[in-house]
Amino acid sequence: REDEIITLQAGQCGNSVGSQFWRQLCLEHGINQDGNLEDFATEGGDRKDVFFYQSDDTRYIPRAILLDLEPRVINGIQTGPYKNIYNPENFYVHKEGTGAGNNWAAGYDMGSQVQDEVLDMIDREADGSDSLEGFMLLHSIAGGTGSGLGSFLLERLNDHFPKKIIQTYSVTPDTINAPDVIVQPYNALLALRRLTENADAVTVLDNGALSRIAADTLHVQEPSFEQTNRLVSTVMSAATTTLRYPGYMHNDLVGIIASLIPTPRCHFLQTSYTPFTGDNVEAAKTVRKTTVLDVMRRLLQPKNQMVSTKPTKNSCYISILNIIMGDADPTDVHKSLLRIRERNLASFIPWGPASIQVALTRTSPYTQPPYTTRAPPRVSGLMLANHTGIASLFKRIVFQFDKLRKRNAFLEQYKKHEPFRDGFGEFDTSREVVMDLINEYEEAEKADYLSGGKEEEPANGGADSRTDGVTGR
Ligand code: GTP
Repeated sequence: REDEIITLQAGQCGNSVGSQFWRQLCLEHGINQDGNLEDFATEGGDRKDVFFYQSDDTRYIPRAILLDLEPRVINGIQTGPYKNIYNPENFYVHKEGTGAGNNWAAGYDMGSQVQDEVLDMIDREADGSDSLEGFMLLHSIAGGTGSGLGSFLLERLNDHFPKKIIQTYSVTPDTINAPDVIVQPYNALLALRRLTENADAVTVLDNGALSRIAADTLHVQEPSFEQTNRLVSTVMSAATTTLRYPGYMHNDLVGIIASLIPTPRCHFLQTSYTPFTGDNVEAAKTVRKTTVLDVMRRLLQPKNQMVSTKPTKNSCYISILNIIMGDADPTDVHKSLLRIRERNLASFIPWGPASIQVALTRTSPYTQPPYTTRAPPRVSGLMLANHTGIASLFKRIVFQFDKLRKRNAFLEQYKKHEPFRDGFGEFDTSREVVMDLINEYEEAEKADYLSGGKEEEPANGGADSRTDGVTGR
């Protein structure tokens, strides 16, 4: 079976999020800061090999490649507490070290200049794995490196490894408040084209929503990146729990994708997580007794979503997978599902199984007593959802793009780089691709979506009955 994953982290955001993720995985698998197994980590039953390989001296090394066009964040990782876990050959910092200056075109262009070196690193890592299932790209789409170099990599990975799955965790800019990066609509739109065309699944994390949730849970006004990244690593850890502590379903990327993505283009996923507590986010309030129903209900509340969307009255879920961790049994889950259905808390597309899928999963023993002092919440949950309301985020990006483009603002810096030397066709094509994507989600809200001129059968259409599925450990 193929289940090993190589993680590619690009740019400031990608590497910061990534380093938090590896820290979390080390804690959960009982791996210390040198990559050795802690003496107490004898419980077994986990799959460390999905994300780590063992070196000759039996240390656990992340299958991670860290890429940046400027050295600051990677230097921080190389001098930080977990500096020894990484393979030193897997760091790539551009020798000029100037970064991409928040310019997608510069990131993309530099990507193509250094592709031999970078693809070589990726090939080496791929050749070193026994059963590679795919790649996970961590990046933001608002700046230059994560967005532009990330786009370049997505295209190359697609050609180079046509059979492997490409999943991304893509941090999208806050599109509601004042932009961090003035040209972010350009960068985001250009990257969205690649996420649409070259990725199998994209988990969208929106910086606006992340800051709002971090501010609410932590009671701070302006959460730091370190704090929002804690949320992100909690989500990533939960989203990969069924791979690392496998039961009989959802235990590889293909399985997760098949249950969430019935038609290939609608592959943008949203997440919610609850409850965030002191152990995953420092200083958050401890919550009351949690129940499965409580968790499942909260997961459906817009305020817990890590993407700010503005659903219309037709917006609906294409699919939902809840990953429930902790003390939950299938009877509780069935009752909760029934309740949610009676109350009509989630509306689904008319053309597929209207069901919330639930995976009850084991979790790490090492993040709870006796290994820690604080008990985790009795139940916690992550929702992975494919919802047509995501199109409203893409519409805002197109709207903001059009405003800049109409004024021909900041085009000079783009013109200096290859994809734009002969004109701005690249912008037009990307806009078309994103408009088609928006249209696809709108079509998906209609009953005749599958017959409306499309031949594809949904991957899970008809396979499930219209009942909710629970899979256990
Ligand atoms: P250049 O700086 O242009 O070389 O590209 P880059 O990809 O390194 O840029 P960066 O990752 O900083 O992208 C900018 C976007 O990412 C902005 O929207 C920032 O708010 C966001 N961002 C940067 N660092 C972080 C982080 O650690 N966490 C989160 N959540 N967002 C970040």
